[in-house]
Order: sequence, then structure tokens, then C-alpha cells
Amino acid sequence: MIALILLCTATRALALQPSDAAWVQRGTPGYEKLLEKNWVGNVEFGSAKAIVPASLEELESAVRGARAPVRVVGRGHSFTPVAECAGGTLLSLARLNRVLDFRAPMADRLGSITIEGGCTYTEVIQHLGERGALRNLPSCPQFTVAGAIATGTHGSGIHIQNLAADVSMLEFMLPNGTTVSYDRERTPELIEGVRVHLGCLGVVTKLTLDVVPYFEVAAYRYDDVPLETAIESLPDVFKTCDSLSIWTSGFGTGPGAGLAWMTYRHFHPHWSSHAVPKHVPPAFGTPQLAKMERYLTDPADPKFFSPTTRGPWSTTLALTIDDELEETSMKALDLQSEFFVPLEHAQDAVRAVAEVASGWSFSSPHSSVGTPVKGIVDAFEFRCVKGDGSWISPHPVDSLGVHTSFNADPALLEEAKDAVAAIEAALRPFGVRAHWGKLSSAAAHQIETSKLERFRALCDAHDPDGVFRNEHVRRVLWGKD
Ligand SMILES: Cc1cc2nc3c(=O)[nH]c(=O)nc-3n(C[C@H](O)[C@H](O)[C@H](O)COP(=O)(O)OP(=O)(O)OC[C@H]3O[C@@H](n4cnc5c(N)ncnc54)[C@H](O)[C@@H]3O)c2cc1C
Ligand SMILES: *[C@@H]1O[C@H](CO)[C@@H](O)[C@H](O)[C@H]1NC(C)=O
Repeated sequence: MIALILLCTATRALALQPSDAAWVQRGTPGYEKLLEKNWVGNVEFGSAKAIVPASLEELESAVRGARAPVRVVGRGHSFTPVAECAGGTLLSLARLNRVLDFRAPMADRLGSITIEGGCTYTEVIQHLGERGALRNLPSCPQFTVAGAIATGTHGSGIHIQNLAADVSMLEFMLPNGTTVSYDRERTPELIEGVRVHLGCLGVVTKLTLDVVPYFEVAAYRYDDVPLETAIESLPDVFKTCDSLSIWTSGFGTGPGAGLAWMTYRHFHPHWSSHAVPKHVPPAFGTPQLAKMERYLTDPADPKFFSPTTRGPWSTTLALTIDDELEETSMKALDLQSEFFVPLEHAQDAVRAVAEVASGWSFSSPHSSVGTPVKGIVDAFEFRCVKGDGSWISPHPVDSLGVHTSFNADPALLEEAKDAVAAIEAALRPFGVRAHWGKLSSAAAHQIETSKLERFRALCDAHDPDGVFRNEHVRRVLWGKD
């Protein structure tokens, strides 16, 4: 263990550059609040003890003596009780957030970045600067990498798998303090299987991500696209660019009724041969140049960006980071659900959701002018994710993600829960599967039996006494009420 720490320290020193000052400060800002409840506040973790170790040795002794259930909280952005640990121990790796090693990508080989388990995407982005890039990003780089991959977090792109697919090495600390690691060369099948882990395999202490050459993203946003036109274009429209998101704030009545806004993104140069070389403007108009408020920023201090632009991969793919690569405030809150259906059902699935949502109240869309209207639903977003082989992946095949942002006003919580159940029911005929980090019923976590059994067997091998299992994972992965 001491040798390992020395090695880490040495590689860290090597990796340090003058421009890295921003992340040298230890401890992800704001983590203290996340020791009690999640970001949106709908889940109390309820631990008897919360521990924020500052070294691997401290982590090891914390894990060894820990009272069960033991869970790790990343950045607390899941909406499900994945980090709940009533009466047990909550660990935060907010101070174990260093970059341990960085290898720049070359013309003929991928680069890599090795980080500690508490490192966030923002910290990865800041470290990379213009020296490299990740293949994709989630909406918010605030998430820890370990926490994001645990729930199968994804960006958008029909040729791009979820973020866990970028992990080439993953190390877990087991209840007795020893570590086990998997990597693409030695254990290709296992690492593929365990990248989406829901915190059940121990503490992720270290992981390595692929780094592709730095790229820019040309983004084109089209406002006020007739919703029916957008639906008709599914699922083919996803093939016309590298990453697409379709938003709508109007399946019902109100300011956004019947309209969508679509953001097409093209990668220049592309990190794979799937490049879509040129943006062909769709039949429904010209890209909008207007500035748009970044996602979830403080209403009193909004941060804007231009959704029709060409810019660095990091600030163009993610919605909560500014041009200086600093996180923007996430003071506005939303409650989210997201369901996946195989891509071939995209049109029928969206129509089915439109039908159940037709009577709901919607907030006014971002693009509207005048007094904002608040409804139960802020917006729906449709994205694509390429299927992957993780044993508990929520999108084992190429899928459409049907995401809903609900108004997080606690007074509307019950109504939002009913709406989540209605969306899930509407998507059931299409083989619905739920995001591990977002609201759904336990029944929506459909995992193929043989894969689920393999995952459970590995959980038993890592953690024979089930120390890392809370009530929620026992319900969704072991079927226990
Ligand atoms: C505003 C917002 C936007 C979002 N956008 C997207 C999006 O674009 N795409 C998408 O797919 N999802 C999205 N999500 C969902 C989000 O990506 C996931 O909930 C993600 O897991 C959050 O990461 P986190 O670091 O906050 O992890 P947490 O929620 O804290 O933890 C998630 C899981 O990981 C485990 N865990 C965390 N760290 C470790 C560790 N070191 N070792 C072992 N287990 C660990 C936890 O125990 C838990 O089971 C969004 C959520 C919010 C709030
Ligand atoms: C630690 O636990 C794992 C999983 O149960 C086990 O395989 C390993 O032998 C244990 N190591 C020690 C040193 O006890």
C-alpha cells in the first residue's frame, strides 16, 4: 500500500503543469452538503457516520472498520437512493480527487488519464485543457467519474456508448481494505461487465479513461421546430450528426405547445471514422444565433452561451461549464426521470409519451420571451446512446433516451411521481428500461437474467457479507422488498 501511495505521488508530480493550479486545491467544492442529502434534496442519506478520507490509508481504515451499509457518495446528483445508507457509513472521496497520470494521445494511439475515485469530469476537463479530450460528456461535468459510470451515465450520439465505455482500468477497494483492479488488456470481459457497478463492488479508488485528440464541436440549434416534424424524423435524424438533442416543452397546451428545439453537433476532427463531415441544414429552417441560458444556473445570475457556435468539446457538449472551464452554478433544481427504449421504437415511444403528457402543465421553453410560466414539467429531452455490454447496462442495445425534467418544487413532488409512473407505463410496450440514477419504479430496471446473475456473483466475490448493499440496491438488483 505504501509503495502504491509513493507511486501515485510520483506520477502526480510528473503530471503537474503550471496550468493545473485550479485543481491542486484538494476537495471538490461544496461536498459538505452532499454528506446529508443529494443535490436536489429528495434523498436523505441517513448515515450514522460520514467519513471524508484524505489518503488511501485513511480510506482503507475507514472501510475496514465501517458499519454497514457502506455507500460512497460522488457528487450526489442521482435522484434515486443509490447512496442512501441509513444507520451505516457514508464515504466521500471528495479529497481523493487527484489526477495521477496523463498520457497525451498520439496519431497512432489513444491517450489516457488516470484519476482517483473522487475526481469529477470538470477536473478532468481542466487537466486536459487542449491536450486531449474525452469522447463525450454528460450535461453536467460536475459529476464524479466514478459516480457517473456507476449509473451508466451517457451523453448523446448514436455512435457513442455511455461514459463507462471509456474506462480502460477500474480499481475497487473491498470491505477488507484490499484492492482489485480490472483492465482492458488483462481482463477485457470483466471490465466490460463491471463498468456500470452501482456502488456494489466496493469503493472505486482509481480509474483510467481513454483520451482522444482534442476536438471542436460545431453546434447548430433550431428553435420552434414543429414537434410532429421532429417525431417524423426519428430515428434517422440521429444519424445526420455526431450528437443530437431534441427538447420539447410542449406536449400539452401553453407557450411551448407543439414545438421542439433541436441541437445538432458535429465533431471536428472526429475521433473515429464515423465522422459526419458536414452539417446539412434540415428542411425546417436556419440555425438560431440567439444566446441561451446555461442549464440550471442561478436565475438571479444567469450564465449564457451560444448554442449555435463552434467551440471546444468541453464547453459545447456540456451545459454547465463556462468558457474558462469553471463550473457554472447549479442553483436552479429539477427532478428527473429517464427511460430507454430500443431505437427502432423511437417514434412510437415518443408518440405514446406525448399522449400521456397531453394534459400536463409545462413550463415555458428556454427560447420563449416574456414572463416564464412554471408547470409540472420543465421539458422533455430525447437523446441517443449506443448499446454496450456492461452486465447491468440500462441500454444494452442502441437506444433512445426519453428524459423528463420536472419542476423540483416539493409541493409538486407527488404529481411528478405520478407523471413518472405514467411515462414508464406508456413506454412498457416498447421494452422500457430505466436510468439507474433517475426516478422510476423498481420494475423498470430490466436486466437479462444471465447478466444479472454474473453481476451478483461478482458482488458476492467482492463483498461476501453484502456490506456495500443498501435497501435500494437490494430491491432493484436482488429483488428484495
Ligand atoms: C442536473 C443533472 C443532469 C444530469 N444529466 C445527465 C446526463 O446528461 N446523462 C445521464 O446519463 N445522466 C445525467 N444525470 C444523472 C447523473 O449523471 C447520475 O446520477 C450520476 O450517477 C451522478 O454522478 P455523481 O458523481 O453525482 O454520483 P452519485 O449520485 O453521488 O452516486 C452514484 C452512484 O455511484 C456510487 N459511487 C459514487 N462514487 C463512487 C466511488 N468512488 N466508488 C464506488 N461507488 C461510487 C454511489 O454509491 C451511487 O451508487 C444528471 C443528473 C443531474 C442532477
Ligand atoms: C479480502 O476480501 C476478498 C473478498 O472476500 C478476498 O478474496 C481476499 O482474500 C481478502 N483478502 C485478505 C487479505 O483478507
